[in-house]
Amino acid sequence: MAVCASAQLDDGGDGVRFELEGATPEAAFVVRFAGQVHAYLNQCRHIPVELDWQPGRFFDASGLYLVCATHGATYRAHDGVCIEGPCVGRRLQALRVIECDAAVWVAVQSGNE
Ligand code: FES
Repeated sequence: MAVCASAQLDDGGDGVRFELEGATPEAAFVVRFAGQVHAYLNQCRHIPVELDWQPGRFFDASGLYLVCATHGATYRAHDGVCIEGPCVGRRLQALRVIECDAAVWVAVQSGNE
């Protein structure tokens, strides 16, 4: 499914929220980090709440890490692994994502169709 235009994602900047299509739509988001796009379900691994309290604001001030606004879990942007906070070692659920024709596309998960 198409999520947004490639130009909407600045490196380390605001992400784009979307709803992953399927029988049970799930909140998800895409961000750009080190030139690559990354997509995850928008669900903290500490408590299943969305990460961003300001819509689209997933990165910390440094633009290097994704942060949960509720209790501060800090995730690596490139693989979603929590490196600090209450769920260290757990990993955001990554989605398959590509850029094609200046747009960002996410694969609808099998089992969620
Ligand atoms: S709910 Fe995300 S760190 Fe607690």
